[in-house]
Amino acid sequence: MKQMFDLTGKVAIVTGGNGGIGLGMARGLASAGALVVVAGRNATKSAAAVKDLATAGAKADHIEVDVCDEASVRALVATAADRHGRLDILVNNAGINVRKPPHEMTLAEWRRVIDTNLTSAFLCSHAAYPHMKKAGGGKIINIGSMMSIFGASFTPAYAASKGGLVQFTKVCATAWARDNIQVNAVLPGWIDTDLTIRARQEVSGLHERVLARTPAGRWGTPDDHAGIAVFLGSRASDFVTGTAIPVDGGFSVQG
Ligand SMILES: NC(=O)c1ccc[n+]([C@@H]2O[C@H](COP(=O)([O-])OP(=O)(O)OC[C@H]3O[C@@H](n4cnc5c(N)ncnc54)[C@H](OP(=O)(O)O)[C@@H]3O)[C@@H](O)[C@H]2O)c1
Repeated sequence: MKQMFDLTGKVAIVTGGNGGIGLGMARGLASAGALVVVAGRNATKSAAAVKDLATAGAKADHIEVDVCDEASVRALVATAADRHGRLDILVNNAGINVRKPPHEMTLAEWRRVIDTNLTSAFLCSHAAYPHMKKAGGGKIINIGSMMSIFGASFTPAYAASKGGLVQFTKVCATAWARDNIQVNAVLPGWIDTDLTIRARQEVSGLHERVLARTPAGRWGTPDDHAGIAVFLGSRASDFVTGTAIPVDGGFSVQG
C-alpha cells in the first residue's frame, strides 16, 4: 500500500506553490518523496517556501514564472525538466480573483483573471505534455473552486475561469489517456489563505456564512490539500481521470 503512494524519483511542478493551497499540496507531494519545483512570481516567497520544504527534509527547488506569459511558462517547464531530468506531475494552482459584479468589471480585469486561472493551465499543460509522454505517463492536477459548480454575484471572471478549468480537465483527460497521463481537478471549499483573507475583508458576513454552510464547521487549511495531491499524483489514481474532486468539508453537498 505504501508503494502505491510513493513518489520517490518523481519531479513535480506546483504553480503558485510558494504559499496557500499550492504550498499545502507541495508539502504533500514532497512528503511522499517527490522533488517539488515551486513556481511563482515572487522569488522571495518562493525561496522561503523551498526553505520550509527543505527543513521538513524534502527535495525542493524554485523557478520564477509568470503563468500568463507563454515564453515564461515554456522556460519554467524546460528548466525544471533540464535541471531535474524529468517531469511527472504538474499542479496548475496559480490563481487570482477580482471581486466585482459583472456590470462593474472591466475587460482588463476579466482578461487578467481568465489568463491567470484558465489560460495558464492550457499553457503549462501544453508545455508539460511532451515531457510526460516521453516519461511514459504523468499526472496533471488543476485547482478549481466551489465556483466551478456554483455562481456568486461578485465572481464573474473567477467563476467562468474555474468552470472552464473543469471542462479543460475533461478534454485533456480524454486526449491524453492513451499516453498514460491522468488529468483531474480539485475543487477546494473555503480555505484560509491570502486570497480569502482579502475576500473576508471585501465581502461582509462571509466568514460567518462559510462557517454556517460548511458541515465540517470550519474553514479549510492549505494542509487539507496534501492528501489529495498525493493521491492524484501517485499510482493510486492511475485509473482516475477527468474527475473534479471537492475538498470542502462537505460545503458542496449541504442541502
Ligand atoms: N483559498 C480558497 O478558499 C480557495 C478556494 C478555491 C480555490 N482556490 C484556488 O486555489 C489556488 C491557490 O489560491 P490560494 O487560496 O492558495 O491563494 P494565494 O495564497 O493567494 O496563492 C495564489 C498563488 O498564485 C500565484 N500566482 C498568481 N498569479 C500568478 C502568475 N501570474 N504567475 C505565477 N504565479 C501566480 C501566487 O504566487 P506569487 O505570489 O509568487 O505571485 C500565489 O502563490 C487558486 O487557483 C485559487 O483560485 C482557493
